[in-house]
Amino acid sequence: MKIKPSSLALVPFVSVEHMMKLVHHIGLETVLQDLTEYVEADFKRWEIFDKTPRVASHSAEGVIELMPTSDGEVYGFKYVNGHPKNTRDGRQTVTAFGLLADVDNGYPVLLSEMTLLTAMRTAATSAMAARHLAPKGATTMAMIGNGAQSEFQTLAMKTVVGIDTVRLYDIDAAATQKCATNLAGHGLNIVRCNSPEEAIEGAQIITTCTADKQCATILTDNMVGSGVHINAIGGDCPGKTELHRNILLRSDIFVEYPPQTRIEGEIQQLDPDHDVIELWQVITGQKSGRRNSNQITLFDSVGFAIEDFSALRYVREKIKDTPYYQNLDMLADPDDPRDLFGMLQRSK
Ligand SMILES: NC(=O)c1ccc[n+]([C@@H]2O[C@H](COP(=O)([O-])OP(=O)(O)OC[C@H]3O[C@@H](n4cnc5c(N)ncnc54)[C@H](O)[C@@H]3O)[C@@H](O)[C@H]2O)c1
Repeated sequence: MKIKPSSLALVPFVSVEHMMKLVHHIGLETVLQDLTEYVEADFKRWEIFDKTPRVASHSAEGVIELMPTSDGEVYGFKYVNGHPKNTRDGRQTVTAFGLLADVDNGYPVLLSEMTLLTAMRTAATSAMAARHLAPKGATTMAMIGNGAQSEFQTLAMKTVVGIDTVRLYDIDAAATQKCATNLAGHGLNIVRCNSPEEAIEGAQIITTCTADKQCATILTDNMVGSGVHINAIGGDCPGKTELHRNILLRSDIFVEYPPQTRIEGEIQQLDPDHDVIELWQVITGQKSGRRNSNQITLFDSVGFAIEDFSALRYVREKIKDTPYYQNLDMLADPDDPRDLFGMLQRSK
């Protein structure tokens, strides 16, 4: 017998197809701007969130992570992987999905794809950090690592921070070609470069977003002049970094959640008590961001659960009254809540 699920059984689900339609419906640059505001709003209320370093399961080829948080009313988590070798056999380095639930009754209220959403929330978080840390009037960005995240990172810096030029570099010229082609027509001057040194020439913002399973040195100390803002995205696992340690020693370092970043970020190369500034305190005005034009600011980004929570919160809001989700029969809902067995029997 086929039983029609009740309304309590149904959870709104945003598939990849619906996410793409939603983004086109709103407009990608508007989504990036909106997500920046949503992430910033949640950073302003940072103290009320449950916070824990993400739960990571490492293997020889990658990592699978769970990223939970709650603001007391809504609970959220993301499942995400990181497997740098994946692109060799047609899979992505990073894929993700996530969920929001009502804290009062524990029932999920949203299930969503988060591969696209992660790229957009990471770009929005970078732009939010740069808005507080990059030199005022920054016009040029170097984008080192031209993979899946790179176009999103660039467009968020254009929309939110106002850059007009991007200088691209990747060890794989095909990735740079793809990125340049994708960014064409978005109102940016696009410069393809043959080395990281060339890419950072004249850039006030340097974003590194490379994928590797080990510590790499994408930027050496002598490459980085005073006054720049570095947005280091790719070093986000134990034993996986992108910057030479001496750059860190010359920088003011801004982080998301120190207990997680000390394990995963660029600062795993430093003493465990090295001074870092929590980004949320800059956003609430408790700590200074950029203080002068000579300072090197470094956002040691690893990605934190609150950013995913903000992104899911945004999607939940935006799908209302649209066709860009479907209801999934996800929760068993017997007529008598204690008669789960009877419900199974009757469905024969
Ligand atoms: N901080 C965060 O919140 C966050 C979020 C998402 C992804 N990430 C990380 O960002 C990194 C990139 O993710 P992606 O999805 O774009 O991966 P991707 O595999 O699609 O792209 C990575 C690119 O880096 C290039 N690359 C590797 N080594 C390089 C080097 N030495 N110099 C220049 N380019 C190099 C590769 O050729 C590739 O094009 C990953 O390590 C991922 O874990 C971080």
